[in-house]
Amino acid sequence: MYRTHTCGELRLSDVNKQVTLAGWVQRSRKMGGMTFIDLRDRYGITQLVFNEEVDAALCEQANRLGREFVIQVKGTVNERFSKNPNLPTGEIEIIVSELNVLNAALTPPFTIEDNTDGGDDIRMKYRYLDLRRNAVRKNLELRHKMTIEVRKYLDEQGFIEVETPILVGSTPEGARDFVVPSRMNPGQFYALPQSPQTLKQLLMVSGFDRYFQIAKCFRDEDLRADRQPEFTQIDCEMSFVEQDDIINLFEGMAKYLFKTIRGVELTEPFLRMPWADAMKYYGSDKPDLRFGMKFVELMDIMKGHGFSVFDNAAYIGGICAEGAAHYTRKQLDQLTEYVKRPQIGAKGMVYARIEADGNVKSSVDKFYSQEVLQQMKEAFGAKPGDLILILSGDDAMKTRKQLCELRLEMGNQLGLRDKNKFALLWVVDFPMFEWSDEEGRLMAMHHPFTHPKEEDIPLLDTDPATVRADAYDMVCNGIEVGGGSIRIHDAKLQAKMFEILGFTPERAQEQFGFLMNAFKYGAPPHGGLAYGLDRWVSIFAGLDSIRDCIAFPKNNSGRDVMLDAPGTLDQKQLDELNLVIELKQE
Ligand code: AMO
Repeated sequence: MYRTHTCGELRLSDVNKQVTLAGWVQRSRKMGGMTFIDLRDRYGITQLVFNEEVDAALCEQANRLGREFVIQVKGTVNERFSKNPNLPTGEIEIIVSELNVLNAALTPPFTIEDNTDGGDDIRMKYRYLDLRRNAVRKNLELRHKMTIEVRKYLDEQGFIEVETPILVGSTPEGARDFVVPSRMNPGQFYALPQSPQTLKQLLMVSGFDRYFQIAKCFRDEDLRADRQPEFTQIDCEMSFVEQDDIINLFEGMAKYLFKTIRGVELTEPFLRMPWADAMKYYGSDKPDLRFGMKFVELMDIMKGHGFSVFDNAAYIGGICAEGAAHYTRKQLDQLTEYVKRPQIGAKGMVYARIEADGNVKSSVDKFYSQEVLQQMKEAFGAKPGDLILILSGDDAMKTRKQLCELRLEMGNQLGLRDKNKFALLWVVDFPMFEWSDEEGRLMAMHHPFTHPKEEDIPLLDTDPATVRADAYDMVCNGIEVGGGSIRIHDAKLQAKMFEILGFTPERAQEQFGFLMNAFKYGAPPHGGLAYGLDRWVSIFAGLDSIRDCIAFPKNNSGRDVMLDAPGTLDQKQLDELNLVIELKQE
């Protein structure tokens, strides 16, 4: 063994012990004839002391150590003269008697400190050095703890962990696939799974009535703070259950994780909000309920008073920001610019302040009498000192989405999105389909294996766009942390679903025949859910991006800058794969 103790464990009670430590040189300070070195390992930092007067040669050796050298020291634990209350080991130090350099190190390209001087790009390139930093390491430790707790919870509930393949077939629905050429089947490609969805359903047909897997998933989609091209799901499926059974079990798991990981007891049942309400009141299928500012529709009150923008609108709605009437003209102009950005796309914003005497002062006063403005105030339940912000547009859904962005921005500006506050809910009763302008057809909102609500099945023939699904998402602080559904387990209904999605029977058979055939051999009623592990960890760790809880993440262009992947292939590899690369000219 290279060490008798780690750098995080020695305390006053260990004084006078002979110990051997090994680790990295965090920093060194020379003060007169003394040299102090902070030695770091995964567990903490211990101060090493070298005294020129006691052993000049050893001290000289210590002075030659650079940052991040890997060393081993032998010495005696000593009580520190000036204690460091910020370190668990701050009461002791090691009087070193022997120093061995295990490996020298180049000067790292950024400082391995909590507040590093390294920018994103350089830290991604040297991710193995970034992972030495406390903050990043702690996130991986938290992730480990979470997966252990997840396995414990699910094991206790009778779930069995089954691995499913990574080389699977490409599926046309959903996001874009990552594909892998097959050498043994020239011209053919595997796809990496976007999720183990159909495989876990097949496991239900096989009788594994409670399955889970901490599963790697791959999706070739545009990246955002909460999206990586490869990410991890806590993927689960159950047989002989109804929606409530699944919701209750996985709500239990969320509560268990909050308790064991964050020490937060969530005693109340989570709110269940129909999708239609989420869109109507928050303009989003993942509302952030840490704060209010519920939308109020103003069509009845504000339309028809000569203000042409509102008079021509298909939707007028607003939010009330409590106590924000102090917003200056400049701040309001900035908010207007914010909602007019192309990513949001609003045409403009109307505002109204509630003054101390209860009067309403708005940016469209010349069109509205105080009486109408008072009606508007009542609709919001607004009080003196409040600020009302209103958007309108010719497409209700689009305008609600814009209002959602405004609401979230106001939440940020007013400090209402506290990372230590948690607001969880289920969004339920999703529509089965959504219209895709790009494809010119209905697409499955969750996936094509989702069961329609029993009472809506007749509508599949008459008005499929209005059919609701037995689908549910869990949302925490405005982030979708999980989603699932009851599945179709009847081959005929599944075939009908593919038909509505525009598949010919032949194509449905070609793509999904394996599943529809399996359903003919005694498929139990089943359903499930997948939690996004990276998202859960980043919420628990208070991170802004899931990247920070992934050991080796990709950057925003989907590249691993450390491995320099993706890259080109050698001619020999291409030949073996029977592939010729000819890039299309844009
Ligand atoms: P869905 O596509 O909703 O459902 O994914 C489930 C959960 O996975 C997380 N997630 C992601 N996390 C990081 N990066 C991504 N690119 C990413 N995409 C999704 C989210 C999401 O809620 N097979 C179904 C589940 C089921 O029906 O059982 C599925 O994959 O937290």
